Amino acid sequence: MRNRVAVMHGVNLDALDRRPADLYGGLSLPRLEFKIEQFARALGLEARFFQSNHEGEYVEELHRAGDYADALLLNPGAWTHYAWSLRDAVEIAALPAVEVHLSDVKHREPFRAISVLEDICVASITGQGVEGYRTGLERLKAAL
Ligand code: DQA
Repeated sequence: MRNRVAVMHGVNLDALDRRPADLYGGLSLPRLEFKIEQFARALGLEARFFQSNHEGEYVEELHRAGDYADALLLNPGAWTHYAWSLRDAVEIAALPAVEVHLSDVKHREPFRAISVLEDICVASITGQGVEGYRTGLERLKAAL
């Protein structure tokens, strides 16, 4: 059964509870992961988590993801907007991917409206807060 999802948080997501609650919900990363775990289980999916503040580490984890995952749920944080190395690594992973952002990146500063991943992802979910991860998992389940 293809149901394993690598949930990969990028730069500054480890400090989620120290960032503006009106944008990001005020949850800590462990609490966010607890929620995602529950969403995944309800959908019959298995979530495995990763976070890094180092672009190269994130790239290397994407290279490994094919060994343990069937799909990718990605919130690369600010890398989303400029890190073309991530786009290449997602292509190398060759797994269905969904991009998710807690905040409404399309309607904030102009630089956040750009995503290097958007057109190679099954879906880009923005501005739904924590619920966006449930939506993302649903889209991945449909893609698997
Ligand atoms: C984010 C949006 C990014 O622009 C920002 O740099 C983040 C979080 C989000 O989840 O809304 O770190 O990806």
